[in-house]
Amino acid sequence: MIVAIDGPAGSGKSTVARIIARDCRLSFLDTGAMYRTVTWACLERGVDLSRDEDIAAVARDIVITFGATATGQTVACDGADVTDAIRTAEVDRNVSRVSAVPAVREAMVAQQRALSQAGDVVAEGRDIGTVVFPNADVKVFLVASAESRARRRAIQRAGGNAATGNVVDVDKSEFQQILADIVRRDELDSSRDASPLRAAADAVTIDTSDLTLDEVVGRVHDLVDQVGGAR
Ligand code: DC
Repeated sequence: MIVAIDGPAGSGKSTVARIIARDCRLSFLDTGAMYRTVTWACLERGVDLSRDEDIAAVARDIVITFGATATGQTVACDGADVTDAIRTAEVDRNVSRVSAVPAVREAMVAQQRALSQAGDVVAEGRDIGTVVFPNADVKVFLVASAESRARRRAIQRAGGNAATGNVVDVDKSEFQQILADIVRRDELDSSRDASPLRAAADAVTIDTSDLTLDEVVGRVHDLVDQVGGAR
């Protein structure tokens, strides 16, 4: 069973995908973390981000691995833990540029397919239903207004989690900055030539702006049930 969950930044993909993977005993593949790791490695190595070939060389050179701890998934680059390092504002600002390079996408898609060879996976990203797994059993495209996505990210950065009701105060100027970054990233991710962010023709679109996490998860479970997935 392959479940593809795509959508823009902050639409709730990761949270929903993790829960579905746990409930249905599927593995979980966070493809955004892979593009973030390439971006982090480019920044670490001082790569000139105007040079596609140099960025692609890093993507081909590094080894990205996932691990699991009691508190969640970890990501390593050449054996070094980068779980937190790939979530910084600097990586946020540069990841759209790096992920727009066709050779980077080729390298990542090949790894994503290899990592999912056993077949039972919930994969989340931007191009899972369109490019990585066009034959996925379930395809979901999550959307939400830019404001609600920025609010979720701001709460997450401040140490809370809107999805679980752990809402903490957020700084207004930080919220505005996150909102501007999200709008800019949406624009770049949707307008790039290589695998732009868009729903597959056979994906089910769910607007999460005014839904609770339980409601979104319930709808995805219904879709999995329809194709005979087990819980
Ligand atoms: O889901 P995320 O915010 O961690 O993704 C980080 C960036 O990676 C996002 O701006 C677009 C890119 N990305 C992509 O191009 N294709 C994917 N399958 C996943 C992420």
